[in-house]
Parts: sequence; C-alpha cells; structure tokens
Amino acid sequence: MASSSMLKLNAASSSWIAGHQSFNQRPGSAGPLRSRRVSVIRAGSYTDELLKTAKSIASPGRGILAIDESNATCGKSQLQMERSSWTVCKMRILYPGIKVDKGLVPLPGSNNESWCQGLDGLASRSAEYYKQGARFAKWRTVVSIPCGPSALAVKEAAWGLARYAAISQDNGLVPIVEPEILLDGDHPIERTLEVAERVWAEVFYYLAENNVVFEGILLKPSMVTPGAEHKEKASPETIAKYTLTMLKRRVPPSVPGIMFLSGGQSEAEATLNLNAMNQSPNPWHVSFSYARALQNTVLKTWQGRPENIEAAQKALLVRAKANSLAQLGKYSAEGESEEAKKGMFVKGYTY
Ligand code: 13P
Repeated sequence: MASSSMLKLNAASSSWIAGHQSFNQRPGSAGPLRSRRVSVIRAGSYTDELLKTAKSIASPGRGILAIDESNATCGKSQLQMERSSWTVCKMRILYPGIKVDKGLVPLPGSNNESWCQGLDGLASRSAEYYKQGARFAKWRTVVSIPCGPSALAVKEAAWGLARYAAISQDNGLVPIVEPEILLDGDHPIERTLEVAERVWAEVFYYLAENNVVFEGILLKPSMVTPGAEHKEKASPETIAKYTLTMLKRRVPPSVPGIMFLSGGQSEAEATLNLNAMNQSPNPWHVSFSYARALQNTVLKTWQGRPENIEAAQKALLVRAKANSLAQLGKYSAEGESEEAKKGMFVKGYTY
C-alpha cells in the first residue's frame, strides 16, 4: 500500500463529459483559463492497491463477485463468519466484495422515481469491511425510462454513486459503479441509448468532481436494449452495436472493466449479447456480473433440496462456462436448454 500522487483529468480527457463546464474554466467565465494550471490530486493511501485490484478483477479468469447481500440491510457483518472461504478467495487470487448501499426509497419531488440510500456511516462501515478482507464494494441505483427520467433523479443517482465511489476508494475498496437503467418500458433502443448517454455523462462528471481515480473503479451498466415491452426485439449484434457506441462515447479507456448486469434478459440472451460485444477488441475488459442470468436455472434446479445440489452445481457451471467464453467472444449458443432461453423480465422488479 504505497501512497502516491496522481495527475487527474486534464481538459482533453474530460472532453467526453457532455454538457458540463470544462475543468479548466472558471464559473461564469467565457472560455478556458489561459494559465497552464494543472490540478494535481494527492490520492489516498490505497491508490496503488486499488489500481491493482480493479485491473485484476477485470482480467479474464480472475475476480469474484462474492457479494454479501445481507449485510447492507441487517447492518451486521457476516464477513467474519465466512473467513475460511475468504482465505480460499485469496489463495486463488479471487476478491471478495460487499454490497454497501441501503436500498432504494421514493425520491420526493420526482416523477415516482427512487434514490439510493447508504451514505451515512459509509466511511466507517467501509473501513471495517476492508479490515475483514473485502476489496471491492457495490452500490446499485436505478433510473427508469418510462418515469422520465427526471433531471433530478439522474442527478441524484449520479451524485450518490460518485460520493459512494470516493468513500470506497478512500477506504481501500474498489467501487462498482452501477446506475441500472431499468428494462421497463415500450421505448425503442434509440431512446435507451439517449438516456444511457445522459446518465453516464452525469455519472462521470460527478466521479471526476469527487476526485475518484478512474483506474480504480469498475462499471456495472445495463446493456442498451429496447424497452422490455417494445414491439420488436433487437438482435445481439444490434444490442452490441448500441451498447458499445454508448460506452465508447462516455467511458474513458482508463476504466479497467465493464461488468454487465443482466436486468431481466434470459440467460441465453445475456450470454449472446456479451459474446457479440467481444467480437473485436474494446478499450476496457467487457465481462459480466449477472445475478438473474446466472442463477435462474440453478435456483429452479436446486429448489432448496439437498438431493438437487449436485445438479444445481452443474447448472451453475454451464452458465459460468458459457459466460466465460462470451467474455472472450468465443461462445456458441448450440445446445442451450429451453430454460436458458426463457426471459426473466418482471415489470417493476425489486431486489
Ligand atoms: P441482474 O443480473 O439480475 O440484473 O443483477 C445484477 C445485480 O447484481 C444487480 O445489482
């Protein structure tokens, strides 16, 4: 854990932040400052470690999203109880992480939208998680296209993510930045692209304002698809084209990894779309951090019965292998089960 200084965000690297005042422009001034001032940010003591962790999690075959989902709501850490499995994680160079947000609640003054709680006490909680072995954190907020989204909801989502990311990095945890743009709605793919561009522009604007080190974060975006109730489905090639267009316009190459959520797509769709995005090189590692698209068949197979455990483990291995191939662009859908092709979209889905 060496401490270091970093030169962050010059005018060129911030040019992709659309619609906001440039970083070398004074409020109210007509143009960029003439001085050669650069802003040198003294990064926190964990910076070197964060960069290594984020890069490692974003490498094929590495990284684990072993997220303690219960912690955030019950306020009691389960990390100690699972110390033996954490040791296994370390031996295999896998990284344990923790969900640190405290869930979504209605956002007053918005169009029936929500905001994500959890900033109070986050610094001390994060320091404790680090001591217990966690090396990354997760914070999920959502944006709804049919509800607008309102400027207020987008700003709140982006600001909350940025504060969380800064606090996580300050305490040695790589923040996974997840503004989930919900699949709900009957809009075309072009509308999703428009909203996603706006949301990510705002997220990166506030990440920069909060001096978050981009090399030490991971992103968890939704893929750019038509709304779940749109009359036409899009092919994996179309989804890949729109999603990569959006990401290339908004995400700097210093970010090491993009780990998609599945958002209600079928297992097969999520894998096919990921595969399509890896047909040519990208500036960042493009991979997955699915819940539903990894767990659906597994949970249906297991049904909570001990006699089904082996079959459920096999089902998990099938999905893990399929997505592992897809992150390398080498997946073929041949032999996929009918179950894997079933969509999982649920209107107004909540965790
Ligand atoms: P889904 O893959 O089910 O969208 O969930 C991913 C996740 O972790 C949401 O926070």
